[in-house]
Amino acid sequence: MEWTREMRYRRLEDVAVEEIEQLKAKVASSPWRQTFHIQPEMGLLNDPNGFSYFNGDYHLFYQWFPLGPVHGLKYWYHTKSKDLVNWENVGVGLAPTESFETHGIFSGTAFAENDRLYLFYTGNVRDQNWTRYPYQCMATMDKNNQIDKYSEPVIDQVPDGYTDHFRDPALFKDGERYYSLIGAQRKDLTGCLLVYQSDDLQSWQYRGELKTAYPNFGHMWECPGYLTYDDRALLIVSPQGLEKDGDNYQNLYQAGYLLGDRIDFETVSFNHEAFVEWDHGFDFYAPQVMRDPSGNDFLVGWMGLPEIEYPTDRHGWAHCLTMPRRLIIENDRVLQQPMEAMQQLRKEKQTLNQTLTDQQVTNLDFVGERYELICSFDQITAEQFGVKVRVGDGEETIFSYHNKDKKLKLDRTNAGVPVGEEYGTTRLTAFEAEQFIFQLFVDQSSIEIFVNNGEKVFTSRIFPSDDSNGITFFAEGGSVQLNAQKWLL
Ligand code: FRU
Repeated sequence: MEWTREMRYRRLEDVAVEEIEQLKAKVASSPWRQTFHIQPEMGLLNDPNGFSYFNGDYHLFYQWFPLGPVHGLKYWYHTKSKDLVNWENVGVGLAPTESFETHGIFSGTAFAENDRLYLFYTGNVRDQNWTRYPYQCMATMDKNNQIDKYSEPVIDQVPDGYTDHFRDPALFKDGERYYSLIGAQRKDLTGCLLVYQSDDLQSWQYRGELKTAYPNFGHMWECPGYLTYDDRALLIVSPQGLEKDGDNYQNLYQAGYLLGDRIDFETVSFNHEAFVEWDHGFDFYAPQVMRDPSGNDFLVGWMGLPEIEYPTDRHGWAHCLTMPRRLIIENDRVLQQPMEAMQQLRKEKQTLNQTLTDQQVTNLDFVGERYELICSFDQITAEQFGVKVRVGDGEETIFSYHNKDKKLKLDRTNAGVPVGEEYGTTRLTAFEAEQFIFQLFVDQSSIEIFVNNGEKVFTSRIFPSDDSNGITFFAEGGSVQLNAQKWLL
């Protein structure tokens, strides 16, 4: 089906109840519905938005086009949770109702203060010639989850020197002032962040472009985020248009972080170390970070990328969010760990202990479709070792370590119905250790792999058939001592 512009910009309110029911039924019958990931009841989900803690709940919104698996008129859909594991759908959070957001409520962040959750987002407007006008807009949510928009945008101009790609405000406080970093594109088509400051969240002053060590790094910087630690800071950003570089930047767009000193708002500059990609899998983009009142930091991403067809498209939906992850800053790197609360979901447990010597081990009882699997590999002499999951007739998803090149590898060449093959079917990253722990979370159509306590993460959608539920462990060119524990989820 061809999605015309008219179809993409239909408003949810104008669609008959029967059509919505039909679409929901079609989605519900999809074999690839997830079970422990946030996913849309219908239509397309993209970026996480407004990730925050407010009034006793974690809140997480997402970009949503309700009417099909394509990018169209975007809403913010609202979900909430007590533990970042069990989520409740609240409903539409922000709908595009105003003249400054006619073509979508685009991404943004949330900031809790004084009994209010402040939502800062981009109102996207197009005119008859399809020229884009971005507006930075504010809304507040009260303790009854009632959301009210400010009547006017708080930033209604793109500063001189930048194109209409100006969006995704990150809102935070530093000292007594509020600041915002906004994704932008220079007129020479390179990406950067612009800095604004405010004393009251209503009136915003432009401070200029954030000076970084990357004056020429992709064509647009999307979805910034910022957390501070005493005199250090973590700036996150999703730059579009990086060239492939060895094993890095293999996906269509990238998402990563810059760790550095705190931003110097006097000079509007950020002194930082090299850009690090968050994730080495195939489907990860536009993450957000947040800190809760206990001082714990979390990250959640979009488990997808634009411009790629996914097998669920024909079932009327696309994409999900990743599991939220705990962030731990350790010297010059950031670890990403699964939430401890995920242990609540554990059901039947099985274990397997074995020395593998040049062999593949498949145990017919040790199987599953949705599970957590922790495998540790010790006493390694093997040249290669690893695990295959969702194994069935001609299908397997392989995660392995290659001792000669010192690389981790995810291979979804035969994972099931193919997706995004034009971007390759394997992903590699350099990694060295004496012992390895692979912690895998396998849902109906995804896999998230945490290596050695979150030093490396691989996130990917996979679309195997229902009966591909085998698990195989292997070692080649030597041996490893395997200890595996699995819980069905
Ligand atoms: C990132 C992004 C954002 C934008 C949103 C629109 O995926 O392009 O920059 O606000 O999606 O849905």
